[in-house]
Amino acid sequence: MNHILKSQQFSRAQLEKLFAETDDLRRIYENPNGRRDLQESLRGRLMFAVFYEPSTRTRVSFCSAAAHQGMMSIWTENAGEFSSAIKGETLEDTTHTLCQYDPDVIVIRHKEVGAAERAAAIVDKFGYKTTIMNAGDGTGQHPTQALLDLYTIKRELERLDNMTVLVGGDLINGRTVNSLVYLQSKFNGIRFIFLSPANLRIGEGIKDHLREHQITFEETEDMRSALPKADIIYWTRIQKERGGINKSLDLTIGVEEMKLVKPEARLLHPLPRVGEIDPAIDGDPRSAYFRQAKNGMFIRMKLLRDACAATR
Ligand code: NCD
Repeated sequence: MNHILKSQQFSRAQLEKLFAETDDLRRIYENPNGRRDLQESLRGRLMFAVFYEPSTRTRVSFCSAAAHQGMMSIWTENAGEFSSAIKGETLEDTTHTLCQYDPDVIVIRHKEVGAAERAAAIVDKFGYKTTIMNAGDGTGQHPTQALLDLYTIKRELERLDNMTVLVGGDLINGRTVNSLVYLQSKFNGIRFIFLSPANLRIGEGIKDHLREHQITFEETEDMRSALPKADIIYWTRIQKERGGINKSLDLTIGVEEMKLVKPEARLLHPLPRVGEIDPAIDGDPRSAYFRQAKNGMFIRMKLLRDACAATR
């Protein structure tokens, strides 16, 4: 199966195809009868969303993506507490069991790095026709978020090459940052500026990857000098639940900070925000984070269609 486990698995050609086909699907959806036309298209198909960590957008957008196409979804929230995991069941056994109910897709969010890969290994070992989608594995990756982030960049800037990307926040604990940086490193002329408190700097593994691919990056704590250089600003929260602490930097972007940002630049955030973007700038045309959340539903609609087509 073509599981979706990490950003590195996608080629540039696959990404361009995915984005073009997502645009096509979106055009159908946005037609006057579009919602009705798509409503039956994945009828009889089944998605499980098994979430061991909190989520609003990811789970609801996957479930909406399924619902808009007539695909059933069954989800468990807080699976760590309310599923058999609390009795000590392994993720492997849970996956093995879930596959008995013939899901086309299992979307998993888990606190441990590599969890989705472990689930996928069970699916492949026993030959189940189920696609595993990683919806976040601890501080590891969040590839469907990165796909929707990059799709948003494509729609907002109308290009994927040649840009300066300012990535800010908790860069050591944020999995969306990992996945986006790996994904963007497949394109040409990308320059990264990483802005974080000294204790939350981006991981060495990512820096090695960028050096290997000869991608320019710098690290800074100076927001005022970084903001004017950026074409994309990718802002993230401090991940307190993973031990992230910021005592040194004010990372808030508000009206004053936006005065330093280029007129054609865009501000993205995977959300939730917890104070690092002032709601006063939500109406600024450069603030793209809610459009980004909407784009996520369309990307996930397309990913579900592809997964179902693979098991037809
Ligand atoms: C992110 C996540 O879960 O990694 N949220 C999301 O899926 N949009 C970001 C975060 O929790 O900070």
